[in-house]
Amino acid sequence: MENLDWNNLPFGYIKTDFNVRSYYRNGKWTSLEVSDSEFINIHIAASGLHYGQEAFEGLKAYMGKDGKVRLFRWEENAKRLFSSAEGVVMAPVPVDLFGEALFKVIKLNKKYVPPYGSGATLYIRPLLYGSGAEVGVKPALEYTFIVFVTPVGPYFREGIKPVNMLITRDVDRAAPKGTGIFKVGGNYAASLRAIVAAKCGGYANVIFLDAKEKKYIDECGPANFFGIKNNTYVTPKSESILNSITNMSLLEIARDMGLKTERRQIAVDELPEFEETGACGTAAVISPIAKIVDPETNKTYDYCKDGKPGPWTRKLYDRLINIQYGDEPDKFGWITIVD
Ligand SMILES: Cc1ncc(COP(=O)(O)O)c(C=O)c1O
Repeated sequence: MENLDWNNLPFGYIKTDFNVRSYYRNGKWTSLEVSDSEFINIHIAASGLHYGQEAFEGLKAYMGKDGKVRLFRWEENAKRLFSSAEGVVMAPVPVDLFGEALFKVIKLNKKYVPPYGSGATLYIRPLLYGSGAEVGVKPALEYTFIVFVTPVGPYFREGIKPVNMLITRDVDRAAPKGTGIFKVGGNYAASLRAIVAAKCGGYANVIFLDAKEKKYIDECGPANFFGIKNNTYVTPKSESILNSITNMSLLEIARDMGLKTERRQIAVDELPEFEETGACGTAAVISPIAKIVDPETNKTYDYCKDGKPGPWTRKLYDRLINIQYGDEPDKFGWITIVD
């Protein structure tokens, strides 16, 4: 095991030993290549640089108490990258190749999987971009697929920490029939102005509303939104948000715990009715929302008056991380052990 200060790792990039790469040329993917370089040699006219032909994924490998490395629902990430590739007309990465790359890169960097109990994980970043040279606006003929890993500390060192969110109406992250449902870099570029403004104002992140009517909740920065009221877990249905794998899993866990679930539009006007709200995604699992501020109406919605996460949020969080670390049986069949 690498000699790192596992208990104090930042949520940032740390160099590891290897990454894996495959290239789409002449209509097919090459077999995986192992690289020890953190850099790529890229054509100045690559479509990924100019026309945003780029997509990525983010998932984690967890070290269990038993010393086994676990992946959580990696096939869902593979399918989502496939769909993102089709969304911006790139050569999709076959699910098998995605899996082979994942297992290979984890095994090659096994010493960087943080120990059980440190709260840290090995973050895995699959990346796909148009590497063929084009000057006209059209899809490239060549693509590059890379998977690299980096050990990351927990998003919040305190574990599960209530945060404040700011509603934005000045910036749209994605349009209803645009690319919001795909994990492509352009959506993140579009979201940055709002995120930076919210952070400057002391907020953890921003809540985007639907771009058409500015009436319904879309997403919380790079995470899905959920609210809980009357024993029901409610999460937005929208054609411009990313289908979060964490959220898909929380919906199932919520049902398993006896909550009703609803996936439907959530109007801003409904916010006062929720007993608990949260943002969910791979990075922080769940960030309970303490307060949502709407600068246009001057309204503030308070959820954690005692500064603590609500009871359902806590239970959902605990069950999900216990499954991810192998601390409770994998009754949903979500875990793959990396041998
Ligand atoms: C825009 C956006 N929404 C939601 C999520 C959460 O998705 P997941 O739970 O699959 O990490 C992410 C992170 O991947 C994201 O970038």
